[in-house]
Amino acid sequence: MRRILMHVGPSVGSYEVLLKSVKEDVGFGSPEFVEAMRSALEGVRYVMGADNSFTPFIIPGSGTSAMEAVTTFLREGDRVLVASNGLFGDRWRSILERYPVKVDYIGSEPGRSISAKSIQEIAESKHYRMSFFTQVETSTGVRAPVPELVKEMKKVSEFVALDGVAAVGGEESCASKWGIDYYVTASQKAIGAPPGAGISTVSGRLMENIPERSVSGYSLDLSNWKRTMESFLDGKGSYFATPPVHVILSLDYALRLAREETMDKRVRRHIASRDQIVEGIEEMGFETVAEPGLRSSTVTGVLTGKISPGDLLAASLRRGVEFAPGVHPALAGRYFRIGHMGWITEKDAAIAVHVLRGALKEVS
Ligand SMILES: Cc1ncc(COP(=O)(O)O)c(C=O)c1O
Repeated sequence: MRRILMHVGPSVGSYEVLLKSVKEDVGFGSPEFVEAMRSALEGVRYVMGADNSFTPFIIPGSGTSAMEAVTTFLREGDRVLVASNGLFGDRWRSILERYPVKVDYIGSEPGRSISAKSIQEIAESKHYRMSFFTQVETSTGVRAPVPELVKEMKKVSEFVALDGVAAVGGEESCASKWGIDYYVTASQKAIGAPPGAGISTVSGRLMENIPERSVSGYSLDLSNWKRTMESFLDGKGSYFATPPVHVILSLDYALRLAREETMDKRVRRHIASRDQIVEGIEEMGFETVAEPGLRSSTVTGVLTGKISPGDLLAASLRRGVEFAPGVHPALAGRYFRIGHMGWITEKDAAIAVHVLRGALKEVS
């Protein structure tokens, strides 16, 4: 039986994309790889809505590595603001608190989003080097009102960093238009490639502001990776540390498919699948964790009322669909999550709803 992975990343897969990584004798200097890296870097700019003034980075690791690499731009003693909608928003704080910077934090109730007003309140007469937030909060499925929050953050901080790990490739993503300085994602979520690469784009203004002595370590210091990325963009091989060669072969192909499909159509495909899932779960008497106006197109948190989410997940898996457990401690034992991103189709969404309905009958 073919299993459908509707987890929150890796999510719905594609053999076609995976198979692109199966190539023997390809090294980081081989012509096929140099071309794949060049085109993947351009593809990153495309899916993130970043113009050519942005420098794209693809480094080994995952979304967390790309997040931590932001330390390249911070100096000892810098004050930063973290605005969090849940567990992954909190990850910014966990990372930054490991470094000698001062972190101010605001959070929201699960299912809600921090507001422009909450930023105004905490930032009263303060000035930050950088503000941090999350586009789609994977622990709840909440999509932050990005343009509204960026506008507010710009008033109180020099730079703005956005975690688009569970968004880029499936949600509208406009680094240039929104004025994001540091935009992060990973290979395995809505872009739909295997895990193994941390991805970011950095605005020209932020690149010009790399401090002489930053707080970053060695392998995640983007000033070490800068020349390598510029060289690949120029169609020439380069080395700082070994890139995840085979992941990047797949990533390049996934990004080529994204360009062919276009982001407009991709965003609409994700919305259509999300709508179908939300309609299905509401018919079953469930509710989404996210308030209706804040539902993301990539992740849905489902409150299950009296039904045990663990039993539902086990019964769904027996029927061939793997969903994700809940992770937000405030909602422990009350919800689970559906990832509907990457190569999700309306057919997958219909199967997911059908399977869930069967599982519900079994466990009720
Ligand atoms: C919003 C968000 N940020 C960051 C991460 C961390 O990414 P990774 O697991 O690729 O390190 C995740 C992973 O689920 C995420 O959903």
